[in-house]
Amino acid sequence: MAVDLLLGLQWGDEGKGKIVDVLTQNYDIIARFQGGPNAGHTLEFNGIKHVLHTIPSGIFHKGAVNIIGNGVVIDPIIFKKEIEALAPYEVNLKQNLLISRKAHLILPTHRLLDAASEASKGKAKIGSTLKGIGPTYMDKTGRNGLRVGDIELSDFNDRYRNLTDKHEEMLANYKVDIQYNLQELEAEFFEAIKVLKEFQLIDSEEYLYQALKKGKKILAEGAQGSMLDIDFGTYPFVTSSNTTAAGACTGLGVAPRSIGEVIGIFKAYTTRVGSGPFPTELFDKVGETMTQVGREFGATTGRRRRCGWLDLVALKYAVQVNGVTELTMMKADVLSGFETLKVCTSYLYKGKEIKHLPYNIEEQNVTPIYTELKGWQQDLTKLTNYQQLPKELLDYISFLEKELEVPIKVVSVGPDRTQTIIR
Ligand code: GDP
Ligand code: IMO
Ligand code: MG
Repeated sequence: MAVDLLLGLQWGDEGKGKIVDVLTQNYDIIARFQGGPNAGHTLEFNGIKHVLHTIPSGIFHKGAVNIIGNGVVIDPIIFKKEIEALAPYEVNLKQNLLISRKAHLILPTHRLLDAASEASKGKAKIGSTLKGIGPTYMDKTGRNGLRVGDIELSDFNDRYRNLTDKHEEMLANYKVDIQYNLQELEAEFFEAIKVLKEFQLIDSEEYLYQALKKGKKILAEGAQGSMLDIDFGTYPFVTSSNTTAAGACTGLGVAPRSIGEVIGIFKAYTTRVGSGPFPTELFDKVGETMTQVGREFGATTGRRRRCGWLDLVALKYAVQVNGVTELTMMKADVLSGFETLKVCTSYLYKGKEIKHLPYNIEEQNVTPIYTELKGWQQDLTKLTNYQQLPKELLDYISFLEKELEVPIKVVSVGPDRTQTIIR
């Protein structure tokens, strides 16, 4: 048996949460492998909308085990809030949610350092979610971090104090004024640590190895998207983890040869939240329509998402880097009503037309070159099978498949679980 991956191919918010929830019926285990509460994964069913940040999106399926892998960074305070939000629903968290001891902890001071770093950058800020992601991964790679397994140690409080003291010194070195009450933040943190302690902590690499041996079906759930990958994204305007396929191996402890299907998920257009280059971004009425119809506001921060046409240069790059074997196209319904649709199929770069993603994709370096396709006018949100899709949408899909050389197997036509067309 293999581990299948589900990965965002753009700048995040592709609809990973919705699709993981839909796919969970085919899997025994859902495992998050990177990122942390910077993620906001939305699921909708029975008229209720849920937003998950740290907890994998298979949690509403009674039979599925959900794992938070070693590559994830956990803020106990946000985790506690997520647990509380799930209380009204029949979710057996104590049984179905397992947490890797090797996952790193986000401390209150990591959040403060994130805020200080962003404030000190001024206009050049990353547009971080301010959840402490960058500083926590920095402590991980700097070999200073605290891990979930440390909360079981008798000297956890000393370890916490040491790191926090160091962070306070770092905060004092920033030339920006970040106001905080550490005592209050700490009280909240240690309350949340108590909650975290009630969960089953595991060695996820061993757990998953045994599960694979027993023939269990595993789906790894990515957070963010390939263009936010620390190595392959639009650096420095990226997150601090490997969001691409390789990240699933290091973030869970599964060997590369255990990877099966790589399901790449993308929106029928493009969005981005935070700073950084975005060649196909629209600043006109079309972009505004995408924002409004697509309700493009962040699930974690509420920020307005920047919108633009589909960028096949970037998408093709993501397909390549991840070795995508099948595609899922989201939010096709949002494009209903446009007379013409544009798809960026190459860039004008240093006076030449290119089809690959260059090192610099800032506005001054690349101009998108578009291919125009005919739009469709029908409302798609009530359609239930592939044959009902309008001809223009089928043409749009065929065009993308030809360019990307990977089949589009799922088309999503609304936020609800049921608004999913499987080919
Ligand atoms: P994620 O971070 O990849 O899980 O995506 P988010 O949850 O942050 O953002 C996706 C948003 O689009 C959420 O509000 C979803 O409810 C919504 N959504 C998902 N699929 C569709 C779709 O096919 N059509 C529409 N209109 N909304 C969708
Ligand atoms: P999901 O999993 C969209 C963006 C932030 C910022 C940059 C760095 O819901 O798709 P960070 O807080 O990680 O240091 O922010 O990355 N970002 C996301 N954008 N979806 C996400 O997650 C994101 N997580 C981080 O806006 O530009
Ligand atoms: Mg999101």
